[in-house]
Amino acid sequence: MLASVRRLRVAPIAWAIVMACLPLGAVPAADTAVHPEQWPAAKWPLPRDAKLEQRVAELMAKMSVEEKVGQLIQADISAVTPEDVRKYRLGSILAGGNSKPDGKTTATAAQWQALADAFHRAAMDTSGGHQAIPLLIGIDAVHGHNNTVGATLFPQNSALGATRDPQLIREIGAATAAEVRATGINWTFAPTLAVPQDLRWGRSYEGYSQDPKVVAQYAAAMIEGLQGKVGTPHFLDAAHVIASAKHFLADGGTKDGKDQGDAQISEAQLREIHAAGYPPAIDAGVQTVMASFSSWNGQKMHGNHALLTGVLKGRMDFQGFVVGDWNGHGQVPGCSNTDCPASINAGVDMLMAPDSWRGLYEHTLAEAKSGAIAQARLDDAVARILRVKFRLGVFEAGLPSSQALATKSSEVIGSPAHRALARRAVRESLVLLKNDNALLPLDPRKHILVAGDAADNISRQSGGWTLTWQGTGLSNKDFPGAQSIGAGIAEQVKAAGGQVEIATDGHYASKPDVAVVVFGEDPYAEFQGDLPNLLYRPGDEHDLQLLRRLHGEGIPVVAVFLSGRPLWVNREINASDAFVAAWLPGSEGGGVADVLLRKRDGKLANDFHGKLAYAWPGSAAQGGTPQFPLGYGLRYADHASASDLTEASGISGEQIPVGNYLERGKSAHGYSFRLQGADGVTIAADVSQAATADGSLRMSALDYQAQEDARRFDWKKTGAKLAVLARAPFDLDRQTNGDVLLVTTLRVDALPGKDAWIAMGCGAGCQGRVALGPALSAVPAGAWTRIGVPLKCFRSAGADMHRIDQPFVWGAGAGASVALARVALGTDADRVVDCAK
Ligand code: BGC
Ligand code: BGC
Repeated sequence: MLASVRRLRVAPIAWAIVMACLPLGAVPAADTAVHPEQWPAAKWPLPRDAKLEQRVAELMAKMSVEEKVGQLIQADISAVTPEDVRKYRLGSILAGGNSKPDGKTTATAAQWQALADAFHRAAMDTSGGHQAIPLLIGIDAVHGHNNTVGATLFPQNSALGATRDPQLIREIGAATAAEVRATGINWTFAPTLAVPQDLRWGRSYEGYSQDPKVVAQYAAAMIEGLQGKVGTPHFLDAAHVIASAKHFLADGGTKDGKDQGDAQISEAQLREIHAAGYPPAIDAGVQTVMASFSSWNGQKMHGNHALLTGVLKGRMDFQGFVVGDWNGHGQVPGCSNTDCPASINAGVDMLMAPDSWRGLYEHTLAEAKSGAIAQARLDDAVARILRVKFRLGVFEAGLPSSQALATKSSEVIGSPAHRALARRAVRESLVLLKNDNALLPLDPRKHILVAGDAADNISRQSGGWTLTWQGTGLSNKDFPGAQSIGAGIAEQVKAAGGQVEIATDGHYASKPDVAVVVFGEDPYAEFQGDLPNLLYRPGDEHDLQLLRRLHGEGIPVVAVFLSGRPLWVNREINASDAFVAAWLPGSEGGGVADVLLRKRDGKLANDFHGKLAYAWPGSAAQGGTPQFPLGYGLRYADHASASDLTEASGISGEQIPVGNYLERGKSAHGYSFRLQGADGVTIAADVSQAATADGSLRMSALDYQAQEDARRFDWKKTGAKLAVLARAPFDLDRQTNGDVLLVTTLRVDALPGKDAWIAMGCGAGCQGRVALGPALSAVPAGAWTRIGVPLKCFRSAGADMHRIDQPFVWGAGAGASVALARVALGTDADRVVDCAK
């Protein structure tokens, strides 16, 4: 039995993710009392501006309640049209991580400008007696203008933390602002001021440091870079954008590092650790603050009046506006994505309602009229938003494409100056953890092998929030002007007259003098990066084996580790002579060579500067004694050795290798696989061949990438189905709220009548079923393809995503023959089902 179960490869990744999001245990009743007077005060730096107040008052006097409510709502470009903006008078639009002009991942500056122009014109249309109120257009420019092809990609924030260089941060902010402006966009959802305390959190790399002091120091620098410095003519001028300090509060303090989880901590920890960046951000005039998806002691931040209004707007004197996060209001008890007066009443001024804006607008309007949202609160929110718009000068700025930097976008985006700055940031961020026998710096006149599967991979060195939300599904050609780490080394070695070979698998043509092995995490964003512990790629040791093989062949090995966060890699460190934490350096891979290599005359080029902004773990259990403490980082003159680190990970019990989850984890986690005949009789199918008793559905094994790693299903009668069952229901609501897909790798051999469907079950009588016929008919017969079904589709088809017990159900009509190889939650597919059609 086990032997055949082992080969059933349904759902490796899906189940791993599912395991990571089982509901938290009951939250202990804890204190959520807030004492604003104990919090640090801040000072809004802008003096009261009578002229501005008058403009706001005059405009508001002319606005209808409908127009006021419209200002409070932000819709995503994937779900709103300029016509909608014209009609509903929305205050803002955003482009989420996967939302691009015409859905093009590699949209150009011109396409972004055209989009911004179309929406701007709609907002300025005064037909019907409407007021012309220009839009704020928001985007996640979180490591450079990372949603635009050809933009400079700066190192992610965890790397910048290692530089300890606020002036650099300021310059990066200014360069990012310029590139954003060049595409007609005027608002970035940055900086993240999280102070991550648990590296299992998938967003650790978005935070600068676990150390509140570093975050506090950077907050002002980044905001001044993005917005310009208060009191100078550059503040919010045409070369700057508005910033968002996010996510207020304690996004980095959740229990077990769970994204969107619950920070079960005291008010003092909240204040002293997680709030550290906010007073300096407010002192620097940050125009917006984004509320956090997370909770504090069980209370959702989007509904926390004491913190949003009492602390942030009161004690800290924040006079910009609070924007919600992606349907974050919908998680407040009693709210839904389309209805949440509680959030507005708590102090959120603008709700991010990507796909839910229309319903939210209708409900909010009704609540504004009924008094469920008091007029004073509505007016306060509108006034805050309008003040930001006036300060930014959008009323005077004209068409986005006509603005100064937009007219020369090709000179601004990915400019040599910006790339040089990013390259400097790469140099400063590298942290040297080990350098036995002073192996580094390398002589570029030698023969150097560059190996490892990230040696020539710009996507891997850039991480999440890069062209796509997850940063996946990309190849080097999607990054014009960028340089991989391997290419950067090759360029300098060749120029110095040395010899270089790039071979990702480490198989060299002639024996090198030294090997540089580049490897590390795959890109991820948000909760998709949450981990159960700090093991690096559990169950997959190919990097370790590569390091050991080269080392064993007598070749000195330099490890260049790419990761958003420190992970437990003691074995990899032991297997290397030198070990460099290179984080997620972005588009300028050449910065690595700048530090690793000597000059061509053999002199020292650049020393290491980076110091750990997060302690490096000494075991894979979060919270143990660090292997390398906060602030650690060698220089070339140091002679510390780090060999023979313990190779005991500190994790006991079952490990779940994502890639072969079912081989080890299946029974323990209670997933089972069933076939159900047209007569309703169910049989277990954790085997390689099976048929229902009524003969309506047959299953047989076939090869996809390995022997018998897929199954073929032949329907003899309509009504039969196959299903994966979970032992206990689990919650997929959080994934549904993002752009997560259920991705099935399949091959259609026959599909008469185009009759096929996929479903998720949620207990007796509860199911969301999505027709697959239209999508499958576009698939050439006999070809493997990945079909993605947005989880949203199951929800709109009636599934209760909070209690999924059958995550994968499939049915087809008589005569259908379909092979299935993989099922996973993901964001990347060859075809995505459009369930609106
Ligand atoms: C993230 C925010 C981001 C927003 C818009 C949310 O899911 O939490 O950080 O700014 O989406 O993309
Ligand atoms: C969006 C991101 C957003 C996320 C929220 C995705 O669909 O593209 O911008 O942050 O959902 O979970």
